[in-house]
Amino acid sequence: MDAPSQSRGYVLQRGNKMKVLVIGSGGREHAIIKTLKKDERISKIYAAPGNGGISLDAECVQIKAVDIPNMTGFAVQNKIDYVVVAPDDPLVLGMVDALNAKGIRCFGPDKESARIEGSKVFAKNLMKKYGIPTAEYETFSDPEKAAEYLKRDNQSFPAVIKADGLALGKGVIIAENLTQALDAVNSIMKEKKFGDSGRSIVIEEFLTGPEVSVLAFTDGKTVVPMISSMDHKRAFDGNTGPNTGGMGVIAPNPHYTREIAETCEKTIFLPTIRAMKEEGCPFKGCLYFGLMLTKRGPAVIEYNCRFGDPEAQAVLPLLETSLFEIMSAVTDGTLSETYIRWKNAHCACVILASGGYPDSYKTGFAITGLAGAENCGAQVFHAGTEYKQAENTFYTAGGRVLGVTALAPAIENALEKAYKAVQFINFEGIHYRKDIGKY
Ligand code: AMP
Ligand code: GLY
Repeated sequence: MDAPSQSRGYVLQRGNKMKVLVIGSGGREHAIIKTLKKDERISKIYAAPGNGGISLDAECVQIKAVDIPNMTGFAVQNKIDYVVVAPDDPLVLGMVDALNAKGIRCFGPDKESARIEGSKVFAKNLMKKYGIPTAEYETFSDPEKAAEYLKRDNQSFPAVIKADGLALGKGVIIAENLTQALDAVNSIMKEKKFGDSGRSIVIEEFLTGPEVSVLAFTDGKTVVPMISSMDHKRAFDGNTGPNTGGMGVIAPNPHYTREIAETCEKTIFLPTIRAMKEEGCPFKGCLYFGLMLTKRGPAVIEYNCRFGDPEAQAVLPLLETSLFEIMSAVTDGTLSETYIRWKNAHCACVILASGGYPDSYKTGFAITGLAGAENCGAQVFHAGTEYKQAENTFYTAGGRVLGVTALAPAIENALEKAYKAVQFINFEGIHYRKDIGKY
């Protein structure tokens, strides 16, 4: 894809070929790699650790995403020009700081700024201090005080209880009554269900309304929201069953009108960027705004310090400008000078999961029909797959296995195309939602 003619910046001026390392192993990373590959200035992409599908698009290196010493060692030895740190845990642990200390340019926030996702207490206090709309809340580091608070006369239910730190997307408990709420406090703070992530908790007001994910590029001064999207977090049709990492996405989000977008820009996006700058930790990378459109107006449900997964699988295919160029501008602080174009289209992504996910599930089943799916015009991103070269076959290797993505001028057609492609794919225990885009 051609870069916009007026684009400028570090990469173009240097004019040489780049070696890029993408850290992570899911569908999001596959989507990032496929999008980066369109840029001819990139000569080589490594993925650490990557997955089966990624191994056909990049050279996979068996280093864990959180292994900072080995990752930096690899990047230095292989003269990597640019690293995209995609998942939350290496960001929160300071991967970007460690790579920067070796002189390696990165996409992603440093450790201080990644606290916006790594600590819900930090995020909530930031919002309160800077008047950014969010649910009313209190924070606790003492389980007895938390229990006392929940027992107060005017406590309403459901109540939302959140572990402070990262908890693989499972640290949010919606308690329908006092018993459930006290159980949640107990399991997070005393039984340490999420380890040290539960040393502190946030107890917050339950909000209602449609949810919107807005991923935004920011260099710490300028913020450029991407096309909005709608995740489907529950495991089963009709928005029932347990919360998952996400079972499907449509983009743009039909609830996110131009008027709401303008409100969000004024009351949420710009104030957040300003707040982080004023706190001495300007955020550089992709900031994910998890929003709820409440009767009081849009409110922040959560911030993530990275691209959403599966949101990235539905948003990045809509990008027309070179992703590498935007990422470089984020790193260099020149985002305000970068022109970003989007396709005038809709995108649907249906996640194919292992039976049992998000609870226990089996892996190691052969996947069939991938070529048939792609022949329908869909793009298949791999999340939990392993590739056995000798058999030229992919096997399931995770909870979320594949993301089947399709673009079309209208969302109905994008969904139809994605579901048609899904019909070709099979593996033992395959589970997917049949109602993506209906909620
Ligand atoms: P999170 O892990 O913060 O994304 O939360 C997971 C899900 O819990 C969100 O997508 C919401 O559906 C729900 N949730 C989180 N906080 C609230 C809240 N204050 N009110 C209602 N639902 C919430
Ligand atoms: N899909 C939700 C997330 O990436 O956190």
